[in-house]
This record gives sequence, structure tokens and C-alpha cells, in this order.
Amino acid sequence: MSTSLAWDERYSGGEFQFGQAPNEYLRAQSWRFQPGVAALAVADGEGRNGAWLARQGMAVTTLDWSEVGVAKARDFAASQGVALDAQQADVTQWNWPEARFDLIAWIYLHLPPEDRAIATAGCIRALKPGGLLVLECFSPAQEGRRSGGPKLPALLWSRAIVEQEFATLDVLELTEGAVRLDEGPRHHGLAEVVRCVLRKR
Ligand SMILES: C[S@@+](CC[C@H](N)C(=O)[O-])C[C@H]1O[C@@H](n2cnc3c(N)ncnc32)[C@H](O)[C@@H]1O
Repeated sequence: MSTSLAWDERYSGGEFQFGQAPNEYLRAQSWRFQPGVAALAVADGEGRNGAWLARQGMAVTTLDWSEVGVAKARDFAASQGVALDAQQADVTQWNWPEARFDLIAWIYLHLPPEDRAIATAGCIRALKPGGLLVLECFSPAQEGRRSGGPKLPALLWSRAIVEQEFATLDVLELTEGAVRLDEGPRHHGLAEVVRCVLRKR
């Protein structure tokens, strides 16, 4: 069972559990992004993706329920010469704003289905019309692999779950398949993932 305290413990060493570089799929979408826009990195952990978005010139809010992660994300961003509005919150409890963000990054957040439904509805609400959602998460084929991901199969994503949770968003791309991860000690090696870019109408 994942808890904020368990994540505090994982993040309490000096090492970055998922590295300091941004997620490769998010980085590959940079041609779609504009500087100066508002971005949200959901469950941003130690801040690698939020800090990178801020370095692209975006005004970035990050969310994570780990107090240690949020503090580390703020320090990491500062060390890179950028600032984050880094908020400690449970994504199922956060007061999701209406039409605030041009971009939302959902990178490796795996939730029980009822929590996932709350957070995905929050994302849809918080995107501006025309805003983009970029997601990368583990798929069911990851079960049993040691390259990362949750132990509970119910937390995994699939193309069908993306289509169901984000049914009101337009699909710009959506794939499910094998990739090679090199993201710190926790995401390393051949892995099975879902990746998508969606746009709010
Ligand atoms: C696999 S890590 C990914 C971190 C970051 N997105 C990255 O790619 O480096 C999952 C993150 O989700 C956060 N998390 C899990 N459940 C959450 C919840 N209900 N609300 C807020 N954060 C949550 C954890 O604290 C952790 O930082």
C-alpha cells in the first residue's frame, strides 16, 4: 500500500529515486510547448519534471503528497535557478482549479481506480481549452518485471483506461508497449508503458 510516509522514506536520502533528468517522453514533447504558459506536474516527487518544465520558461505548479519530496523539489528547482509553486497535497483532496493550466504532466502516478477517477476528473477540470495532458505510466505487461512500477495490478494503466478516464479529451497520440528506462535506481531497464498526449477541446 502506497502512503505519503512511505514516499517520505524513499525520498529521504540524497539520491534522486528517478534521477534528475526529466522523463524522456515528456522531454520529447517539448516541440509542442510554449514558454510562458502555466504547467502542472502531478505527483512530481523530487521535482525532476517540474524543474525541467520551469527551465523551459513555464510557470510551474507541482503537487505531491510527500513532504520530503516537495521540499526536495523546491531545493532542486532552486539549484537549477528556477522556482516552483510546489504544493504538498493528496491529488484526491486537492482543490483542483478550473481551466488554469496549458499543460499537465502525469508521469508515473498509479492510483487505485476510485482515486484515479477523482484525479483524472481534476485534471480535465484544471486544463484550459486547448491544453495538453502528457502521461506515461506502467501497463499490465509490466507485472513481474523488476524495472519499476506498482505491485498491485489494479494500479496499472492501459490504452483502454486512458480512453475511459479521459474520454472527453482528444487523443493526439496514444501507445502501449516496451521502452527502455534509464531514470535513476527505481526505473531501470526494459519496461512496459502507456504513453499519451491528449488535448482538451
Ligand atoms: C513513481 S513516483 C513518480 C514521481 C515523479 N512523477 C517522477 O516521475 O519522477 C510516484 C509519486 O506519486 C506520489 N503520489 C502517490 N499517490 C499520491 C497521491 N494520492 N497524491 C499525491 N501524490 C501521490 C508519490 O509521493 C510519488 O512522488
